[in-house]
Amino acid sequence: MLNMEHHWLPFTNNRLFREEPQIFARAEGVRYWTPEGQELLDASSGLFCCAAGHGRREIADAIHKQVLELDYTTHFQRAAPISFELAERLSGLLPEGLDRIFFGSSGSEAVDSAMKICLAYHRARGQGQRTRFVSRSWAYHGVNVGGTSLAGMVNNRRDFSGVTSDVVHMRHTWTEEQRFSRGEPETGVELAEDLEDICKTYGAETIAGVFVEPIAGSIGTVVPPKGYLKRLREIADKYGLLLIFDEVITGFGRTGSAFASQEFGVTPDIVTMAKALTNGTVPMSAVAVRTRIQKTIIDAAEGDRPEFFHGYTYSAHPVACAAALASLNIYRDEGLFERVKDFSPTFLDAVFGLRNLPHVADLRGYGMLAGIQLTPGEKPGLKGSIAQRLLFKEGLHIKATGDALIFAPSFTTTEDELAQMTDILRRVLVRGDL
Ligand SMILES: Cc1ncc(COP(=O)(O)O)c(C=O)c1O
Repeated sequence: MLNMEHHWLPFTNNRLFREEPQIFARAEGVRYWTPEGQELLDASSGLFCCAAGHGRREIADAIHKQVLELDYTTHFQRAAPISFELAERLSGLLPEGLDRIFFGSSGSEAVDSAMKICLAYHRARGQGQRTRFVSRSWAYHGVNVGGTSLAGMVNNRRDFSGVTSDVVHMRHTWTEEQRFSRGEPETGVELAEDLEDICKTYGAETIAGVFVEPIAGSIGTVVPPKGYLKRLREIADKYGLLLIFDEVITGFGRTGSAFASQEFGVTPDIVTMAKALTNGTVPMSAVAVRTRIQKTIIDAAEGDRPEFFHGYTYSAHPVACAAALASLNIYRDEGLFERVKDFSPTFLDAVFGLRNLPHVADLRGYGMLAGIQLTPGEKPGLKGSIAQRLLFKEGLHIKATGDALIFAPSFTTTEDELAQMTDILRRVLVRGDL
């Protein structure tokens, strides 16, 4: 019998969990197994991490080899060859010009690092008064202090207002007219003008940068309206703001391109990434920065002091680097980003096939990422959490945020496995007890 008293689970109702534990003991491909042997299909790639499926031997072997060769080095005034190799590989995958890579261990660390890079950059070019950030309602940018300030979901902010800093929020991009839009909605581009209004209201010279998820993932997949990201780019350029795309979910193929920036044809100044970077095996994140941003910070530093007073004990951890390189090899060798592009119509057909189910209020999707919005229950979020538990019992693991289910299977999912997943959704989303 497991003693569940001591581990305080994150983003979990710990009391409810102990009454009805949902525990995974093993995983392979697109499947999990509980300790009792119940099999579940994984409709969310764990938490949008395991893009190439679970239990990949190539990654396990690379991790094993690296631990025995060089298990750890600090990267403060020291380095290991493998991190340079990984940084070069990443810069080859990113949009041109985003080729300076800073490493951390989580998406949250990447976001906070990116905020500090923005501040250091403006200071280095004599604009240290740019200390404010712009984000968006419904945004999720992790849970560190910076990311909590950027957050656009009230539950992620409410208890922590004492530490959050100065962030102004644009409106989210979902509108009633967009209901059941597949891909980029046709309407809503004018919502980008919120950025211009904020620049005029607060003074653009006080704003360091604007953070957006190209597709708002954690809230339940909100795809940007056509032209919206491009318009943000224009306004950011007009007012000297840095544009940061948080690609912690959309990075590494989820949209059918390596990064959503390429998919939507808009190049930001900074990209944050994590999750699928190591296929979820070892915690790792990265921030990709335009060459000129790093150069400005480096050139402004005096003497022999570090140019950027920031970094983590586990920045560029060699074992994480090995896991990342092995993951990138799988993505390349198996053509998995291309697979997403090819498979996306089949995936979205399956998702939009749920349209007429009684509990479905909206469907949204792009690439291999989709949101299933449930009709409101008695209280916000209640139906989502009941659905998640019923689906678990029926053999499907899926992430829920509030009343939205986030469907994002591994890129290796077969048509048959996809059909099994949607069958389970179909069985549960008609139930009277939901
Ligand atoms: C867009 C985005 N940014 C940041 C994060 C935080 O990442 P982590 O949980 O690894 O800190 C997430 C996690 O889901 C995310 O979706």
